[in-house]
Amino acid sequence: MTEIARGLEGVNVTTTKLCRIDGQKGELVYAGYNIYDLAEHSTFEEVAFLLWNQRLPNAEELAALKAELVAERELSPLVNTVLREIWAEVRPMRTLEVAVEIIGAEDRKSSDLSNAQLKKTAARLTAKMATVIAMYDRLRHGKEPVAPRADLNHAANFLWMLTGEEPTELAKRTFDVALILHAEHEMNASTFSAMVTASTLSDMYSAIASAIGTLKGPLHGGANEAVYKVLEEIKTPDQIKAHVDALTARGERVMGIGHRIYKTTDPRANILEKLGHKVAETSPDRHYFDLSLKLRDYLAEKLQGKPLYPNVDFFSASVYKMLGIPSDLYTPIFALARITGWTAHLLEQYADNRLVRPNAVYQGEENKTYQPVATR
Ligand SMILES: CC(C)(COP(=O)(O)OP(=O)(O)OC[C@H]1O[C@@H](n2cnc3c(N)ncnc32)[C@H](O)[C@@H]1OP(=O)(O)O)[C@@H](O)C(=O)NCCC(=O)NCCS
Repeated sequence: MTEIARGLEGVNVTTTKLCRIDGQKGELVYAGYNIYDLAEHSTFEEVAFLLWNQRLPNAEELAALKAELVAERELSPLVNTVLREIWAEVRPMRTLEVAVEIIGAEDRKSSDLSNAQLKKTAARLTAKMATVIAMYDRLRHGKEPVAPRADLNHAANFLWMLTGEEPTELAKRTFDVALILHAEHEMNASTFSAMVTASTLSDMYSAIASAIGTLKGPLHGGANEAVYKVLEEIKTPDQIKAHVDALTARGERVMGIGHRIYKTTDPRANILEKLGHKVAETSPDRHYFDLSLKLRDYLAEKLQGKPLYPNVDFFSASVYKMLGIPSDLYTPIFALARITGWTAHLLEQYADNRLVRPNAVYQGEENKTYQPVATR
């Protein structure tokens, strides 16, 4: 019988210099650098450069990239107008998709697929997507958008545009690390969909719109918001057992647990947990973080023997909650970070393109006789 690689599990579709994951050991490496090192010492801007160039920038290169990102933060009048028209009807991930397509429509060089131009597009989207999400959230809360601040880095500026308040040093660093952790993850579903779109030599904006649509689903980026919903339903530690037992008895999955690649704890969950403890020390909003810790412990007991451990989404929900971020922005924030990984893979794809076109094994009927509609 012909073998079918359902979900393309275990299939290598390309080579990459961007990311290596060892799911058994819980190892995640961006272009040679371990994620624990990057989370400890690096910044989101540095990681963006690393992914786009496979090396860390020197001081001059880092300053140039920061300046480029700052210069690209403002949105065009058209994007502004559209956001003001749609915010009441459209959820944040689709808003992002729409905005990316308009930014692409306004770029006269969108079909220039040279490496230099694609890198400009990557920086443009990285900068503007953050402004889009912050503006969207302000508008839906009946507030005017907050102008970006050139003196703040990407992470701090996003929190500033979202709240209109100067974030604490701890909030800035926590969010910066969260962006680093979500920046890249090898051939996940959204990266693959971006790659498929680009493989037709469609432009980078359309490829990123495809990726955003793919990230939206609850089995991928949507899981962090789904984790938040679970915590909301559980409410208090004494409800954990009853809630989880009922959920698994219905054959449902616990969000934020399990991974196609990791068969041990996702290293990003370890890093977020550690950060969460720091943030919780001074947060008035630590309840869901404490609840997550207890939920994790109960799941470890209940799922003993199964390779099901917390993934990146498990702690991001309660950490973002402590930063005061609304739960339906958790997945868009994932996109604001992953835009760097998506575009880095697209640079690789455009540089060595081959149309992605697998097969499907036909199992339908044969030799049927066409009947005109009047006789059917
Ligand atoms: C991420 C995910 C889709 C990967 O799943 P996958 O590689 O397709 O794994 P499978 O669906 O083959 O699952 C293997 C087994 O583990 C179980 N399982 C997987 N994830 C589970 C979860 N979150 N809760 C309970 N059971 C789970 C499956 O039911 C299956 O059990 P079975 O063998 O008894 O039928 C899956 O773990 C999941 O749905 N997790 C929740 C969503 C999530 O957090 N996504 C974010 C990923 S970063």
